[in-house]
Amino acid sequence: MADGKSRFDDIYARPDPRAYFTRLAPLEYEIPHHAQPVFRRTAAERAAYDDGGPGPPVVLDLCCSYGINAALLNHDVTLAELYQRYTSEPARTMTSAELAAWDKHFYAERRRPDALPVYGLDVAAPAVRYAQAAGLLDAAFTDNLEQTPPGPGLSRALRDVGLITLTGGGSYITERTFTALLDGARRPVWVCAFVLRTVSYEPVVRTLTAHGLRTTADTSRTYPQRRFTDAREQRFAVEAVRALGADPTAREEAGRFHTVLYRSRPLRVFPSPACPLAFPQSPPEGVAWDA
Ligand SMILES: C[S@@+](CC[C@H](N)C(=O)[O-])C[C@H]1O[C@@H](n2cnc3c(N)ncnc32)[C@H](O)[C@@H]1O
Repeated sequence: MADGKSRFDDIYARPDPRAYFTRLAPLEYEIPHHAQPVFRRTAAERAAYDDGGPGPPVVLDLCCSYGINAALLNHDVTLAELYQRYTSEPARTMTSAELAAWDKHFYAERRRPDALPVYGLDVAAPAVRYAQAAGLLDAAFTDNLEQTPPGPGLSRALRDVGLITLTGGGSYITERTFTALLDGARRPVWVCAFVLRTVSYEPVVRTLTAHGLRTTADTSRTYPQRRFTDAREQRFAVEAVRALGADPTAREEAGRFHTVLYRSRPLRVFPSPACPLAFPQSPPEGVAWDA
């Protein structure tokens, strides 16, 4: 446990995603499901925005783990189907290599025509290896940008990136990671991040602003992430949310972590004719952005 939030380190770096889904199922971890339509829409808008770059913009899924957001973005699958798949009887008896081969076929059959290249960044090497073996990630990196600058592989890859997505990682990474990513970017980068209300995103927003991005968030709309593991974790969350000036009534007080969706785009494409409704013209009440 760190900062009052239960830790799940034991399921992040396994050779395949079975333990991840098995452990998170009773907690109803659901944020990738809420992100799916948002990421699809944003990725399509970003791809439609012609930045003169070579080829389609790459999506970089930050804290990508076993490639869950890549699976949901580029394939006709739901998070519920993934829970069912990875906790099923056939999956239980396979080796990790057999599971990866089974998955490769499964995802290839469900590949969407509008699929975009996805790179993954996560410190858990076995997880990203699995995502690559299953055909979910076009490239994967394990640089810990909280501690070190990007290595040569990631530095090269950052030149292709046009959209950064994030679920479930807001309490692990800080503005240090975003600074490194945006310093290395060469194309206009949009960011779409679901961040727990127990965490202040303000330092990241300041970093994004310094890199020419404008961030908006409708803080009146929240997205549930998962149930609390116990009463102690709930107390921590309720207090943390209050300390950041938000109201936990009917949200954290009702038993789940909630997130806010933050969207960032370069000022010069804000608002863009390609996405007239994606952002409000001015920050909604209570939003914390634009240092
Ligand atoms: C809750 S999981 C989220 C996985 C996935 N995005 C999802 O929503 O299902 C958090 C992930 O953050 C990763 N992580 C922790 N610290 C990190 C860091 N400094 N840089 C990149 N990834 C990190 C962990 O290895 C883990 O896979």
